[in-house]
Amino acid sequence: MMNGTGIAVVGAQFGDEGKGKIVDCLSSSADAIVRYGGGANAGHTIVAQERTFKLHLIPSGVVRGKRSLMGAGMVIDPRLLVQELDELSSAGVLVDESILGIDVRAHVILPYHQSLERARWRTSLIGTTGRGIGPAYEDAAARSGLRFSEFIDPSQFLHRLPEIAEEKERVIGMHLGETGEEAVPPLTDVQSEYVGLASRLSSFACDVSHEANALLKEGKTVLFEGAQGTFLDNSFGTYPFVTSSHPIAGGACTGAGVSPRAITQVHGIAKAYTTRVGSGPFPTELFDDIGDQLVDVGHEYGTTTGRKRRVGWLDVCQIKRAHELNGFSCLHLTKIDVLAGIERLRIAIGYTLYDGSQVSLAPPDARQWEDAIPEYIDLPGFPQISEGEWREVVQESATRGFAALPTNALRYVQKVRELTGIPIASISVGPQRESIVWPKNAEVAQHARHPVPAQAILI
Ligand code: IMP
Repeated sequence: MMNGTGIAVVGAQFGDEGKGKIVDCLSSSADAIVRYGGGANAGHTIVAQERTFKLHLIPSGVVRGKRSLMGAGMVIDPRLLVQELDELSSAGVLVDESILGIDVRAHVILPYHQSLERARWRTSLIGTTGRGIGPAYEDAAARSGLRFSEFIDPSQFLHRLPEIAEEKERVIGMHLGETGEEAVPPLTDVQSEYVGLASRLSSFACDVSHEANALLKEGKTVLFEGAQGTFLDNSFGTYPFVTSSHPIAGGACTGAGVSPRAITQVHGIAKAYTTRVGSGPFPTELFDDIGDQLVDVGHEYGTTTGRKRRVGWLDVCQIKRAHELNGFSCLHLTKIDVLAGIERLRIAIGYTLYDGSQVSLAPPDARQWEDAIPEYIDLPGFPQISEGEWREVVQESATRGFAALPTNALRYVQKVRELTGIPIASISVGPQRESIVWPKNAEVAQHARHPVPAQAILI
């Protein structure tokens, strides 16, 4: 019997919704944070005490010194993880490394995975992050992957490495039309570097699944931090323009190793508009001045690759599909401040598909998204206000809740709630940790079975 609260935090769009910031907030009242999927393709940005932290592998709860666990569903790049550890330690954020844990079942990314991905770029149109994510998950599914438990055992690792290197060189060679040898580092170099990395990381090995279950059994709160977003899900996203893992809420169970009954709340995170990195259909994409403005004001450049993000209007057809897939208890709407100064705001509420049919739910086959023509509703925009004025809005919200927002910003939020049917838990109005407007008259959502942490009071 589980008495605790399990909260999954899930991206409702194409990733980069601002999950890191919300996980950072919610983690103040959590006992542990478990990242359940993906790898260093993710980039979670947290701005706290005037410092910016960009996390790729370590869960966002680390900034608050909470037990931060990397689940079995993740693919771990040891080189990047050590780099991240060193950066956090030298910034004084990670004082006690024993707060970190890596599930022994997680898979390990080797340089061969990245070389293979790069070799495939010649023919692949997906626009992946180049972090070896796809090839590592392929190995996991093919049952030939390297698990963290094997990686940190030198005899097993040294036994498996030559066979892995040989197979990957052969496949890379096939892609490049030559031997793959030049495309990968020499085996002896990989051996010495990775044995060193394994010894640096070995103390983190643990059974994340058991630990999360035990905490929940004791009545504690565990956050399950998603990476990427619903429409990058390998099964339910815009396939093939997706990642290789399962960012949806169900992925929290398979990636962290907990029962669906352990997830008591699912918090969806959506930007007040839409962005996407890499290729793939994007019905509400903007190619005009408003799009440029959103990129500039919202600093819409990928945290991991620095690529300019594609931007577009908020798409309720997608949010509704995401709600169906994830069962959101509530929605955190981020970056509404970026919309300030745009005269007319648009929200997509339906699509006309190539055969003339009209739908209000994003269709199941991504090919149907490609020439979908969005139907919009228009709402009046709200004026540009300074950073200082946004700070006043946040202060005022302590007593007035969402009513402290500029009138038309509030109207926009109310429209999102009305169109999606999802209670809005918070509205983010700037990059800082504090720049969040919480509602006033707390009314816990009927369908949230447990009380939510103090900050996440729903309207
Ligand atoms: P991969 O995950 O590197 O294989 O990339 C697959 C697709 O997912 C590409 O379009 C990437 O740009 C996208 N992607 C992967 N991770 C993220 C993320 O954290 N945010 C946004 N897009 C991502």
